[in-house]
Amino acid sequence: MRRVLVAGNWKMHKVPSEARVWLAELKRLLPPLDSEAAVLPAFPILPVAKEVLGGSQVAYGAQDVSAHREGAYTGEVSARMLKDLGCRYAIVGHSERRRYHGETDALVAEKAKRLLEEGITPILCVGEPLEVRERGEAVPYTLNQLLESLRGVEPPAPEALVVAYEPVWAIGTGKNATPSDAEAMHRALRQALSERYGAGFGERVRILYGGSVNPKNFADLLSQPNVDGGLVGGASLELESFLALLRIA
Ligand code: G3P
Repeated sequence: MRRVLVAGNWKMHKVPSEARVWLAELKRLLPPLDSEAAVLPAFPILPVAKEVLGGSQVAYGAQDVSAHREGAYTGEVSARMLKDLGCRYAIVGHSERRRYHGETDALVAEKAKRLLEEGITPILCVGEPLEVRERGEAVPYTLNQLLESLRGVEPPAPEALVVAYEPVWAIGTGKNATPSDAEAMHRALRQALSERYGAGFGERVRILYGGSVNPKNFADLLSQPNVDGGLVGGASLELESFLALLRIA
């Protein structure tokens, strides 16, 4: 009952003219899909995504959003702007934003709220750094991050929410969590969401795995009952590997 989602986080790759060609090719070569496909390019590419993908099976969205609704916030992009561009999704709390831009759980929670207000689905990223995993504290650390990043998002459940478990040590390193480690974490995240928002929601919410997903390891990860898809960086940039992931899903 949870539809698998394969979302490509392009990070700071591709310029709009390259993206236009890539997305048109994706549309042309797209296999019939049971799962859902989404691309998450940089802000300047979103108008291109709207033009090329609008009305297609492929959703698109942003990698970040402002915590503010509107106003004198130079350089920021509001949830309303993303809505107007037809975004279905936006990532919040990616570990690269937390690490390089000092984003806190409290800020991430504000961003998630702005998206929910506009009917955009936040893809909320959580995950532990290596030293925390080595201390054996990955689960409590990540659950705390999840609940703190949803502080102020009160019940009833935020139906439009996707969670992505991205262990920091697995991002862009070629090391992925084992399917059973991912499964254990996803189960714990689902349980925490059930406790906060009700068991029904815990069962409905999609939890993606992210961190060195590729066409070789994706099937094993997806075979886990609590893994509902992937948030994919590097392997989403090449058309062939993104298509391969969609065929697996
Ligand atoms: O958001 C996706 C991401 O952080 C994982 O990146 O390159 O390890 O697939 P990558």
